[in-house]
Amino acid sequence: MKDKEIQRLIEKETKRQKGVINLIPSENYASKDVLTALGSIFDNKYAEGYPHKRYYGGNTVTDELEILCQKRARKAFRLSEKLWHVNVQPHSGSPANLAVYLGLVPMGGKIMGMTLTAGGHLTHGQKVSMTGKAWQQVPFGVDPKTEVLDYKALKALAKKEKPALIVAGFTAYPRMIDFKKFREIADSCGAFFMVDMSHFAGLVAGGVYNSPFRYADVVTTTTHKTLRGPRSAIIFSRKDKKIGDKDISVLIDKAIFPGLQGGPHLGQIAAVAVALKEASTPAFKKYAKQVVKNSQALAKELSRLGWRIVSGGTESNLLLVDTWMGGKGIPGKEAEAKLEKAGIIVNKNTIPGETRSPFDPSGIRLGPPAETTRGKKEKDMIKIARKINRVLRK
Ligand SMILES: Cc1ncc(COP(=O)(O)O)c(C=O)c1O
Repeated sequence: MKDKEIQRLIEKETKRQKGVINLIPSENYASKDVLTALGSIFDNKYAEGYPHKRYYGGNTVTDELEILCQKRARKAFRLSEKLWHVNVQPHSGSPANLAVYLGLVPMGGKIMGMTLTAGGHLTHGQKVSMTGKAWQQVPFGVDPKTEVLDYKALKALAKKEKPALIVAGFTAYPRMIDFKKFREIADSCGAFFMVDMSHFAGLVAGGVYNSPFRYADVVTTTTHKTLRGPRSAIIFSRKDKKIGDKDISVLIDKAIFPGLQGGPHLGQIAAVAVALKEASTPAFKKYAKQVVKNSQALAKELSRLGWRIVSGGTESNLLLVDTWMGGKGIPGKEAEAKLEKAGIIVNKNTIPGETRSPFDPSGIRLGPPAETTRGKKEKDMIKIARKINRVLRK
C-alpha cells in the first residue's frame, strides 16, 4: 500500500485484534474471501435502483451479483422464492430497520419494541433514535423476577395500545424467543410482526435457534455478527402481505431506495453473497452449534464462580453478567476497563431493572462468536471465565 499512514494503522489494528480475547457478541472475524469481495472493484460502480431497473448504465454484471446474493440469502435460511422477497441493499442494520418502519408504519404511528435497558436496540423506537422521533414506541421489558419475556403481559399491552408493528429480536436478550407467541400477539391487535434477527442470524442459518420465518411478516438482519459477513444488512419480506393494494415488499424496497439511500454498496453485496454461501455449509452448522455451547460454558463457569447471570443462563450467542450485584460487586464500566487492561474485550451493558446509568450500568455483555471463529471450545471458555473472575476480583 502506498499510503503508509493508513498501512501502519491497519497493521496496528491487526496486532490489536490478534492480541486480545474478543467477547463482544456482535463482532466476528470475516473470512479472507469476504474481505476480498468487500474490497473488490464492485465498489467503483453506481447502481441506483434494483436489478433490471437501474438509473445508471453498465449494470449487467451488478444485476447478476445482486440476484445471486438474494438467491443465496434464501438458500441460507431455507426460504422459498415464491413467499419471500429479499432486499440486500441496506447499508447497515439501522437503515434496514428504519426502512421497514418507513414503508409500513404511518408517521407518528406506534411501534411496539423492547426498551434499551431490557435489551432492545436503539432502532426499536428509542427516543434518541430517529425511529423514536418519527414514530411512538410502545415500550416493553422483561418480567422483573425471571428476566425473560412475559408473553401474557405483552399480549395485554398490544391489545391496549394497538401498535401498527411489533418488533422482536433484541440486542442483549440471551434467551430463546417464542416467535409463534409473538405472531399470536400481533394478530390479536392487527399489527405487522417484524423480527430483527441481527444477533442470532448465524444461529438461525445453522439451525440452532428458532427460525422467525414461519411467523414473521418481515425479518431484518445485520450480516456482520454471528453471520460472519461484512458490515451490511438484509431485509426479508413476505410477498403475500399487503397494505391496501400495495405489496409490503414493494413499499420496503421504495423506502430503501429512493426513500433512505442512494446507490447500493456493491462491494458489500458481493461480500454478503460470499458470507451467505459460507453460512450454508455443514462447517457453519458446526460453528453455530459451538457458539451456543461456548456461551453456555462461559455462563456456567462464571455462575459457579459467584457472578449473577441475568435470567440464569443463555440459549444464544450472548450472556449478560450482573457485575454490580446490588453493590456487592463492581460497576459495568469499571469491569469493562479492568478486563480491557487484561486483554479481554467486552462491553458494559444495562441489565433488566437497571438502577444505574447507561454510561455506567450494572453489567457487562459477553459472547463467544468471534472466539469460536478462532476455534475456541468449552474448555477454553472455562479458562476465560476464570481469568475474568480473577481480573474482576482484583
Ligand atoms: C438487534 C440489532 N439491530 C440492529 C442493529 C444495528 O446495526 P448497525 O450497527 O449495523 O446499524 C444492531 C447493532 O448492534 C442490533 O444489535
